[in-house]
Amino acid sequence: MSPLIITIDGPAASGKSTVAQRVAQALNSTFLDTGAMYRAVTLLAMNTQTDLSDEQALIRLVEANQFNFTPAGQRLVVLINRQDVTEQLRNPEVTANIRYVAEAPGIRILMVRQQRALALKYQRVVTEGRDQGTVAFPDAQVKIFLTADPEERAKRRQIELKAAGIQQDLDTLLKAVEARDLSDRQRTVGPLQPADDAVHLDSTNLTLDEVVQAILKIVEKKIG
Ligand code: C5P
Repeated sequence: MSPLIITIDGPAASGKSTVAQRVAQALNSTFLDTGAMYRAVTLLAMNTQTDLSDEQALIRLVEANQFNFTPAGQRLVVLINRQDVTEQLRNPEVTANIRYVAEAPGIRILMVRQQRALALKYQRVVTEGRDQGTVAFPDAQVKIFLTADPEERAKRRQIELKAAGIQQDLDTLLKAVEARDLSDRQRTVGPLQPADDAVHLDSTNLTLDEVVQAILKIVEKKIG
């Protein structure tokens, strides 16, 4: 099978992960959740009381510890110094602190390097994040920019968290989603923005199946 890179970028809780997993499955490809990488660095920084606003300290932390990222079906399994931290990555405290790590240019360089190495290793990948079509894989065959209204995204995040046993009210989640949108859009390196050649897809009024089918059609049209 020939190499294939499909990027799905978009704002928080736009459904990227679930959609990317399903598309990857349909195309016999590997799903790459790049948010998990930024979450892992944030988690370690919090656990080691590293000053999150000190970029050099964050870089030293990444270089001094062993991160291992392994795509495994529906998620990216993350080991830090051989300890599996995958289950802790979606904790709201990690989410609340992630912007420091995501805004650090030196960290972004290290993460993009890891993403490219994984794409090289797995050959056929569906990768989701914020900068996959713009920075990590500018030559990807297919680029999707997936959005949904903030209210709809907050609702989706609430359902997702509930399934993980975490209760949060809708208003708090809406504020968190909007705050993350703002910081994701405003950072100077790797901001959330569509690639010039990305296909835009608004999933507000679409079911998961409809979004997946729409993307598979786009893939078929672009690469046959
Ligand atoms: O997609 P997820 O919600 O797990 O991403 C968590 C955070 O990681 C995002 O809000 C964003 O700030 C950051 N991120 C990023 N670049 C990526 C993926 C995620 O900056 N490629």
